[in-house]
Amino acid sequence: MPKDYFEKLSDHKSPPTYKFFNGEKWVNSVSDKTIDVISPLDDHVVGKIQSVTHAEIDQAVSLAKVAQKEWMKVPMIKRTQILHLAADWIREHEHYLTTLLIKEIGKTHTEAKDEILRSADMTDYFAHEGLHLTGEELSGEAFPGYDQTKIAIVERVPLGVVLAIAPFNYPVNLSVSKIAPALITGNAVVFKPPTQGAICSLLLTEIFRIAGVPDGVIVTITGSGNDVGDYLTTHPGIDMVTFTGSSQVGKSIAEKIGMIPILFECGGNNPALVLPDADFDNTAMEIVKGAFSYSGQRCTAVKYVLGLTPTIEKLLPLVVKKTKEMIKMGDPRVGENNLGPVISDGAANEIEKRIILAKAAGAKIVLGGKKDGRFIEPTILDHVTLAMDIIHTETFGPVVGFIRVKSIDDAIELINQSSYGLQASIFTKDEGAGIKLGQLIDVGTVQINSKPQRGPDNFPFLGIKGSGTGVQGIRYTLEAMTRFKPIVLNKPQ
Ligand code: G3P
Repeated sequence: MPKDYFEKLSDHKSPPTYKFFNGEKWVNSVSDKTIDVISPLDDHVVGKIQSVTHAEIDQAVSLAKVAQKEWMKVPMIKRTQILHLAADWIREHEHYLTTLLIKEIGKTHTEAKDEILRSADMTDYFAHEGLHLTGEELSGEAFPGYDQTKIAIVERVPLGVVLAIAPFNYPVNLSVSKIAPALITGNAVVFKPPTQGAICSLLLTEIFRIAGVPDGVIVTITGSGNDVGDYLTTHPGIDMVTFTGSSQVGKSIAEKIGMIPILFECGGNNPALVLPDADFDNTAMEIVKGAFSYSGQRCTAVKYVLGLTPTIEKLLPLVVKKTKEMIKMGDPRVGENNLGPVISDGAANEIEKRIILAKAAGAKIVLGGKKDGRFIEPTILDHVTLAMDIIHTETFGPVVGFIRVKSIDDAIELINQSSYGLQASIFTKDEGAGIKLGQLIDVGTVQINSKPQRGPDNFPFLGIKGSGTGVQGIRYTLEAMTRFKPIVLNKPQ
């Protein structure tokens, strides 16, 4: 089993130090520097990861470049078999990965297990869809002035070496959502895991390697985002960058990258618009799940709710009641607790600061609002405005604000003023009205009568404005990691 190999890779100390994968073997970095992966649950050091040097990155990227040329010649059916085996290994390691995930990023057992199983299903789906990804054949006769002597054979070819940068909140799933499509389409992958979640990511690399991914086709570079991340995103050997993370980092990377394709999912800061005729029970439950799952550390989390005053007056007490019923703050390893700590002290302090500032600016704390270490109470604010930092920029924590509007048109205008555009939810019993309003809202995806969410993973998933660029989702990511290669046959007249 890959985990048996993986466990041999550490130095068996406590806490274990893990190697990085340079494409051929697992090695310690010559930097002799490591980074602690600290559990948000109790500060224990889950493990230490390598701080890889620029020279080691250069070597690994060069290896990936060479290996990719051979990998793209491996028949698609063989690549598919490797991915299906990797999917099975992920399932086999579900318990091991779930346990690691809980320690590294503080998810509940259910959230962690769902992420692992979803990753296996996603890998299978990418393998299946990859088999059916085709090019096309075109005849010149369709265009005036041309005839059948011109035939275009339009192949779909890999981009080359794909840099995959994954976030801490889905270190397995949002790594697989990049690595699997890149591999099945014949690319090589330079994988940069998040620090928290890195150990799961290293095991994922071992799973793909043992499933049959040849040397050099996947390399896994660990290190700090500022150092290693910056060096990788501007590396001349990279042919495409796929990134999930904050809008701020996404914009900074996009500004540095040259003329290569990018596929970015960034911050969401998602609104929920509630119409007077909504099913308030369902709406309240969806807002609670949307705002507080994984302590609000999801880019599809609900961050503010808009409605006419009578709507908000009726909905707010229901959301408070359901929050008290559904959300139990505490160590996610214990009992029914389902609201764990946020990822770091820095994150917790920033959220606390924003709550204090919002209150000073006129917001009313209806529920929660207090910080205890890295734990932030499920917090509901009333009378917030888009001018308040807690709403104006994405607050990656368990906080949701309520805004009263004079008209639904005003609500649409407020939503469209946002610098974000990932998703928006509309709650109404009149689905036709919901669709019409959805067509007026400038976001990637509109959910009607549900919280914002990325799944199901075969649906297109995209952000506009500061929320990203490019379209993800099984088929869409496969297409984004390939390009057309037209070969035109010019037959004799
Ligand atoms: O924050 C990452 C984003 O992809 C959320 O995914 O599945 O929780 O909606 P999901």
